[in-house]
Amino acid sequence: MHPMLNIAVKAARRAGGIINRASMDVAHLKVGVKQQSDYVTEVDRAAEAAIIEILREAYPQHEILAEESGATAGTKGESDYQWIIDPLDGTTNFIHGFPQYAVSIGLAHRGVMSHAVVYDPTRNELFTASKGGGAFLNDKRIRVSNRAKLAEALIGTGFPYRVFDHVDAYIAIFKDLTQKSAGMRRPGAAALDLAYVASGRLDGFWEFGLSPWDMAAGTLLITEAGGLVGDLSGEHNYLATGNLVAGNPKIFAQLLQLIDQHKTAKLRD
Ligand code: IPD
Ligand code: CA
Ligand code: CA
Repeated sequence: MHPMLNIAVKAARRAGGIINRASMDVAHLKVGVKQQSDYVTEVDRAAEAAIIEILREAYPQHEILAEESGATAGTKGESDYQWIIDPLDGTTNFIHGFPQYAVSIGLAHRGVMSHAVVYDPTRNELFTASKGGGAFLNDKRIRVSNRAKLAEALIGTGFPYRVFDHVDAYIAIFKDLTQKSAGMRRPGAAALDLAYVASGRLDGFWEFGLSPWDMAAGTLLITEAGGLVGDLSGEHNYLATGNLVAGNPKIFAQLLQLIDQHKTAKLRD
């Protein structure tokens, strides 16, 4: 395993331990509201602090972009490396004791994802990938599914819950897909949804309005597992737009085509 990925795994497991211990007593969690339907707990903050401490110790010169503490420069100012961290993806699930959440850590080198970890502490499932080196689940190689027909495909998604700019287009796509796919799932942790596409548990995925830390690691898992990721035009602008489509190559193409039929002017920008 590449030393940088090794450090990321150590950080993700440390955060996972914090999350698992806290999950024993969610009834007493202090929950803060960042904005409507956007929650943060002391567990998100403690997990993030633990991750940053480990990364900083190993790579003080690297930049960090983390959900709760924002962007921090490295000790030497600008760096070619940036860690993109979601310390607890699926906070709403976590608060409710709904066991579907994960730690997500990605490393970008000159803007290109080079290493990725998504760790599900509930099931002790560790998804990892390094650019050019394939994707793994607990050290076993994973591949996207080879299901070719949308009618047989299981599609993951995230419902709009805070920003409703594209809700009409979302519902039109949802309505169409309910009739054309084998079914849809909204598990509630985007990073884990992407890991599930990488491991073939889901055949495709789409969501509007994601943040870079939801997607960074998961997208590398998918491409290294033989899948495709893109924005709503199939291009690479998803980290900037927040709109993401992913899947095995056949389902990805069919999802893009279906979504295109429901794109509003706002979504075409
Ligand atoms: C959220 C989860 C959710 C997705 C949201 C994200 P958070 O992350 O990934 O599945 O629908 O868009 O914000 O806030 O729990 O880290
Ligand atoms: Ca998230
Ligand atoms: Ca989070």
